[in-house]
Amino acid sequence: MTARILDGKSIALQIRKEIAIEVAALVDRRGIEPCLAAVLVGEDPASQVYVKNKEIACEKAGIRSRLFRLPSSTSTSELVELLSQLNCDVKIHGILVQLPLPKQINERLVLDAVSPAKDVDAFSPENVGLISQGRPRFLPCTPHGVMQLLGRCQIETAGKEVVVVGRSEIVGKPLVSMFLQKTGPLGPTNSNATVTCCHSQSANLARITQRAEILVVAIGKPNFITSEMVRPGAVVIDVGINRLGDKLVGDVDFESVSKIAGAITPVPGGIGPLTIAMLLRNTLTAASISDGF
Ligand code: GUN
Repeated sequence: MTARILDGKSIALQIRKEIAIEVAALVDRRGIEPCLAAVLVGEDPASQVYVKNKEIACEKAGIRSRLFRLPSSTSTSELVELLSQLNCDVKIHGILVQLPLPKQINERLVLDAVSPAKDVDAFSPENVGLISQGRPRFLPCTPHGVMQLLGRCQIETAGKEVVVVGRSEIVGKPLVSMFLQKTGPLGPTNSNATVTCCHSQSANLARITQRAEILVVAIGKPNFITSEMVRPGAVVIDVGINRLGDKLVGDVDFESVSKIAGAITPVPGGIGPLTIAMLLRNTLTAASISDGF
């Protein structure tokens, strides 16, 4: 079997077109021009590329973006002070602190300092709690991208055996929560799964991943999932983005797994573009729920 390739790039473009239309309507009807503040601390090259891509995507959707660059020597309190100012700025609707942060910074304190109403990453305890209770304000960008891709490719999750590999706060944990809900971002068929989450301490990982009708991998290890670990015909979603020499590769060994899976996302061009599209969605939502500046 050769797997169907799930083209995240074209789906993301479609979503971005839809968002641009909604942004134009918000400007037109309520005079609100959505604005995203991105905070970048230090010189991490990958983070610089991500932030640049986010700025370009904002511009194309009619969303304003402001970049706040801070030196790598920045302290936790300096960063928290900047965030307090951004929280109070009525012209800024969404705030994103690009991760990872330099080691001396207390990441939890910083993320907790972002106002939940502007928390377009959905990292704050309040927003995580709302997701867990099935009444989200914002959905976290990468997990939401996964759900959008599945929904828009007509891959139902209801009643399916879903295995998530990875338990990060950014991807694994919120994905588990979203797959479990009675209603997902595209309705009940886009959730209601039977979900297993495995991680670095799971015993006999392959035995668990082989059960998956839908396998989502976000473990941050290049080519970690090989064909022996995958059920024939499974839908395989690769969230990993790893640099191997001058190449970007996922957490799934595309070469071997694409021969046995029913469908698979490529890296690059799979989930990555959807993450950015869902950030735009959250910025638009933040602007819509703001008081109207
Ligand atoms: N770094 C890697 N992924 C993410 C993300 O989803 N949000 C932020 N803010 N930083 C990241």
